[in-house]
Amino acid sequence: MSKKDQILKDRLPNHLAIIMDGNGRWAKQQGLLRVVGHENGTKSVRNIVEASAEIGIKHLTLYAFSTENWNRPKLEVRMLMKLLVKSLKKEIKTLQDNNIKLLAIGCLNDLPKKAQSELLEVIDKTKDNTRMSLTLALSYGSREELVSVVKEISNKVKNNIISVEKIDESIINKHLYTQNLPDVDLLIRTSGEQRISNFLLWQIAYAELYFTDILWPDFNKENLYEALINYQNRERRFGKTSEQLS
Ligand code: IPE
Ligand code: IPE
Ligand code: MG
Repeated sequence: MSKKDQILKDRLPNHLAIIMDGNGRWAKQQGLLRVVGHENGTKSVRNIVEASAEIGIKHLTLYAFSTENWNRPKLEVRMLMKLLVKSLKKEIKTLQDNNIKLLAIGCLNDLPKKAQSELLEVIDKTKDNTRMSLTLALSYGSREELVSVVKEISNKVKNNIISVEKIDESIINKHLYTQNLPDVDLLIRTSGEQRISNFLLWQIAYAELYFTDILWPDFNKENLYEALINYQNRERRFGKTSEQLS
């Protein structure tokens, strides 16, 4: 049986998140510039987006650029922003053909104007698509997100819109950038690094973590199927005992 056929549709992660890492090392291994690694990384993005929609995943979130990534060399940052604009222009067709809605989370105001306008345009054009939501985390940092939540809620308390007693997990959820998304079920990180790097700290509280040594530009559909099969063989107990679940 092929890997794809082994995937059980009723045990798919509802929300899959991916830390797409290893573009630079992929390029370095072949004596190429880092930017070539990023360019090849966009091919993996297309493959994985298509495969996820095809399998029936409802929400996919991709970590594309972190708040910390602004500290990279200026030229690399500039190339990444250019690549973002180029990819958005090119991939709008993939999104429409596959009935995928684009969303974005992060400090979007910090992106170059061109990237912001392109992003808003694709978000608007795909807003009625229903098969899968694809969220790009851009200039995203989980700590920054949590600071913004605290500020917003504090302001509402100050203006008597909510009382301190009313603050609970659902109120916090409603103020996150991911307010319309469910919790992450499966988090994949490529390239062998085993860390979270400031990604969705609140939202992955009970996510299953999957680390693979494969560098992002090499990560293909079969690798995604492997991760999903691995996920399906895990027991998610949410604090209960195994016996309680069966
Ligand atoms: C991930 O690949 C892409 C971004 C963070 C933008 P890297 O560029 O981090 O690749 P490595 O980790 O240096 O190999
Ligand atoms: C995390 O990758 C950010 C993205 C994938 C966009 P990094 O390569 O920036 O992470 P660290 O700094 O090595 O942890
Ligand atoms: Mg990296």
